[in-house]
Amino acid sequence: MIILPELGLTFDDVLLAPQHSDVESRRKLSTQTRLTPKISLQIPIVSANMDTVTESEMAIAMARAGGIGIIHRFMPIEQQVQQIARVKKAESFVVDEPITLTTDHTIGDARGLVEETGTGGIVIVDKTKHIVGIVTTRDLLFEGNESKPIGDVMQRKVFTAPPNTTLEQAEKILHEHRIEKLPLVDEQGRLVGLITLKDIMKIAQYPNATKDARGRLAVGAAVGVRGKELERVECLLKAGADCIVVDIAHGDSTLEIEMIREIRRRFPDAQIIGGNVATADGTRRLIDAGADAVKVGVGSGSICITRVVAGAGVPQLSAIIECSEAARAAKIPIIADGGVRQSGDAVKALAAGASAVMLGSLLAGTDESPGLMMTRKGHRYKVSQGMASLGANLARKRREGDAWITQEEIEEYVSEGVEAAVPYRGSVREVLMQLVGGIQSGMSYSGAHSIEELNAKAVFVRMTGAGLKESMAHDVEVL
Ligand code: XMP
Repeated sequence: MIILPELGLTFDDVLLAPQHSDVESRRKLSTQTRLTPKISLQIPIVSANMDTVTESEMAIAMARAGGIGIIHRFMPIEQQVQQIARVKKAESFVVDEPITLTTDHTIGDARGLVEETGTGGIVIVDKTKHIVGIVTTRDLLFEGNESKPIGDVMQRKVFTAPPNTTLEQAEKILHEHRIEKLPLVDEQGRLVGLITLKDIMKIAQYPNATKDARGRLAVGAAVGVRGKELERVECLLKAGADCIVVDIAHGDSTLEIEMIREIRRRFPDAQIIGGNVATADGTRRLIDAGADAVKVGVGSGSICITRVVAGAGVPQLSAIIECSEAARAAKIPIIADGGVRQSGDAVKALAAGASAVMLGSLLAGTDESPGLMMTRKGHRYKVSQGMASLGANLARKRREGDAWITQEEIEEYVSEGVEAAVPYRGSVREVLMQLVGGIQSGMSYSGAHSIEELNAKAVFVRMTGAGLKESMAHDVEVL
């Protein structure tokens, strides 16, 4: 038996002592960081792979804001693949399978399709997929005769471009010809895609978005370590997942290390995040196995009861400091996972050496999280449940088509997480704006112009319970 001499610290045990600062405008400070050596983020925030936090809608919002979401793994492989596909389609400026009609169709058919799909333009093709015209909502506007052939109103002159047209080239063509749709055709003149002005404008709305090399929103996916999980990895990578998070509660384990090694061997280019660990040795072992980033946090999450049930864990600030020191030598980023309740905690985690923070409950209360809203005593809430809770396991069974659980199974299940309600917080965008603003303020107090500099310049001061009390609003009635 060993008792470590150092006291384990967490966020509420410390403050960042203010340092001299030459920062003039906090809001202009860059919060750029690395999730893995190959994935860079404009904001150091990752949404947790929990079934009450990240599915496609959350991942889309996170990537648009400059962070990233990790789709949870508590669902069949096909469903997780669909989630990834939805993110990948959300902001692509090329529609891969454009909606088409032929000249056999009528104005009524075209109008029905516009209403059903919300598309603003339909490409008209012949039987061999060669373009013969295009119909936009404007062409249909004052047409009263629904049975009129589409060929009578379609525009016959159609500007097209090759399939590999870049965003800049497309913008130029759309502008020059004052058009809103640009069909893409292969060498034989067959329709293979469509670029629309509307999609391009959507892209301009999110200049900080995290994108892959093909201009699609970036997204991560969680996997486990057993059975079919290598097949899951293969399917997720094929679907376009930008990183794979090997996600188990006790990451410093033989199963996880073997899984990371095997993924590295089979998919040498994959970006692999391993976790969770809470010690320097554990961090090194995952890095040696091939991890490109390591997720840190055992028992730190808001819905975790691992420390109560198993008596295991390391207070989160100490865990981040220890693990990030171990990872620094290998130039591997650390993601601080769990326990971040407000922006000040995120600043402390980044100052302690994390490159990004992973958030669960803070994001579970937003519009974009999966799950229903509920009202209690006039206040609105959403659910946040630990992935090792009974609730999460029942939900997984349902997704896998098994709606039944026996009394025996319930009694045998040892929960390491709870089901909880979190206050409704509006959109992810609003929550992230407050968090990023707080992180920038924290950087300024440490005289830092970047997340890296924040870590280099940070000076932590430990405080007593009285210091913590003084840190909050006190001796006033908070309205
Ligand atoms: P926050 O504090 O942001 O934490 O809500 C999210 C992180 O908590 C972890 N997690 C769990 N840990 N039992 C645990 O011990 C659980 O059931 C559980 N569910 C989630 C996970 O690391 C997540 O990102």
